[in-house]
Amino acid sequence: TMETTELEQKVLQVKREMGEKLFLPGHHYQKDEVIQFADARGDSLKLAQLSASQHEAEAIVFCGVHFMAETADILTREDQHVYLPDMRAGCSMADMANIQQTEKSWDRLMELFDDTILPLTYVNSTAAIKAFVGKNGGATVTSSNAADMLKWAFSQKERILFLPDQHLGRNTAYDLGIPLNQMAVWDPIVEELLYDGPLEAVKVILWKGHCSVHENFRVANVEQVRTDHPNMKIIVHPECSREVVELSDLSGSTNAIIQAIENAPPGSEWAIGTEMNLVNRIIQEHPEQHIISLNPRMCPCLTMNRIDLPHLAWSLESLAEGRPQNVIRVESSVASDARKALDRMLVRA
Ligand code: 13P
Ligand code: SF4
Repeated sequence: TMETTELEQKVLQVKREMGEKLFLPGHHYQKDEVIQFADARGDSLKLAQLSASQHEAEAIVFCGVHFMAETADILTREDQHVYLPDMRAGCSMADMANIQQTEKSWDRLMELFDDTILPLTYVNSTAAIKAFVGKNGGATVTSSNAADMLKWAFSQKERILFLPDQHLGRNTAYDLGIPLNQMAVWDPIVEELLYDGPLEAVKVILWKGHCSVHENFRVANVEQVRTDHPNMKIIVHPECSREVVELSDLSGSTNAIIQAIENAPPGSEWAIGTEMNLVNRIIQEHPEQHIISLNPRMCPCLTMNRIDLPHLAWSLESLAEGRPQNVIRVESSVASDARKALDRMLVRA
């Protein structure tokens, strides 16, 4: 439509005018109408690293969710500003660990486990949680380096508190050979440790959070694919439940999923368990393979989708007119502790 063309022209015009002064990272889960304009596409780790290396950029308009924009702000210089085209683009998983709850829970857990815990947080968490983890000697992880980071954490302390995604924590620890009966779940709402065995046996404490997108891939979806498409390989993101990962053929981060499909021969058959925009893009980019979503109803991340063409055009226009909106600025005391947690990961990534 005319309106779409105008918005696209606006985006292109500002990009042209600002040149190297503008950097526009786009997460793989973003809509096509947005990702077409991204200077770089990536998973959360790659986008964080790329943002930190854009020395010419004065403005980073982050096409992703709030915690990613915060991470970009933490890793960039004071004079570089990060903007989020729609402030409502949050992450329900990140919101499952707030700082007050976390500090309170930490005190209880350190009492229960006699100071033997190191905290790790998935990057899908607020800057305040990253700062808490950094202050307490811990680090951030992403889905692509969680196993290495968990190994590192066990070289530091006897036990790990893994925030905020219980599934990534459980799946990663399980892959490292830690049995399920050595993993406890901490429910921050009722402040209760869900665990049957003796406390000494606990190696990993999983914060009771989850991704509301990836939890929509269910055992029944796996069973349906096995019945309908016996030759199909199933690949899922480790934010899916243990049961679903167990029944799938492969699991991996956003990047690992993209790589697996790219390296597969023509005629391969795949059911993918991750966010809808990425699955649709992979389907479009690989007509030589037969690819479906593991859940036929598709699973969009509604907050990722809040960044759309109208918001992107508005954000860029306001920037070009010298009245930028939606700046993401992490307070410096929080940022410096959060940076410690990020740096402990980045030196190992
Ligand atoms: P990655 O980009 O690290 O794979 O994370 C997936 C995700 O859920 C992002 O919100
Ligand atoms: Fe958060 Fe899940 Fe959306 Fe990623 S897909 S931004 S973890 S809600």
